[in-house]
Amino acid sequence: MVEIDNAADSEKMELPRIIAIDGPAASGKSTVGFAVAQRINYLYFDTGAMYRAVTWAAMARGLDLADLDAIGTLAESLVIDISAPQPDTSDGRQTTVLVDGQDVTWAIRSPDVDRSVSVVAANPRVRVALTRHQRRISERFSAGISEAVGLVMVGRDIGTVVLPDAPIKIYLDASAEERARRRYEELRRRGKEVPYAAVLADMRRRDDIDTHRAVAPLRAAADAHILDTTGFTIEEIVEQILDLMRREEVKRD
Ligand code: DC
Repeated sequence: MVEIDNAADSEKMELPRIIAIDGPAASGKSTVGFAVAQRINYLYFDTGAMYRAVTWAAMARGLDLADLDAIGTLAESLVIDISAPQPDTSDGRQTTVLVDGQDVTWAIRSPDVDRSVSVVAANPRVRVALTRHQRRISERFSAGISEAVGLVMVGRDIGTVVLPDAPIKIYLDASAEERARRRYEELRRRGKEVPYAAVLADMRRRDDIDTHRAVAPLRAAADAHILDTTGFTIEEIVEQILDLMRREEVKRD
């Protein structure tokens, strides 16, 4: 006997639980990813913060960033904890980043870390260690055992390497000039005066390293939705992403 599934009335539609957002530096990933997460009560998880945390720790210990083994060993041993900020935290942070219990949320955003992080992110052992950690986080959501409803994971290789089966993938892009302008404004807001030309040059250098590295280079997954953020407001991009998510709604009993 063939059973005909006519349970449509009892089916509940749900947004995909995991969303992968990738893109180059200052493409709007963090701002947009955070805003999407806020709107639908998902956990916002910024994987770039993990590469920054390793870079910060290596610099604090005076290690040579080009020493692949020393930095790889460090990445394997550090306890990096990324969590939603406490409700009473009012310094504008999107997440709280702890390295071995120390709050490095702002220290990992310094121009020194900006300049050095691409080299650390190109280290294969660092990538293996951090990718493993990121997959463990996402497994909690696929299994439905996390306190948050879903996960917005943001980075460079989430859709291609970390979570190739993510139900929805977004690749955000914008011109290097536009991204440098955003980073320049952001640095100024934080009281850091760096000439625009230097920010642009640094942006191009980082793009070059991120897209040409041997392991997990920055690129859009074949099944990613590519959104150019130039000329759009954050709200408009957030709406586009929520629309895409609604179209990918999955049926649950
Ligand atoms: O997004 P961000 O600027 O905070 O990222 C910091 C660095 O980490 C940047 O050089 C790219 C790298 N990165 C990566 O290689 N893979 C990720 N999933 C996230 C960031």
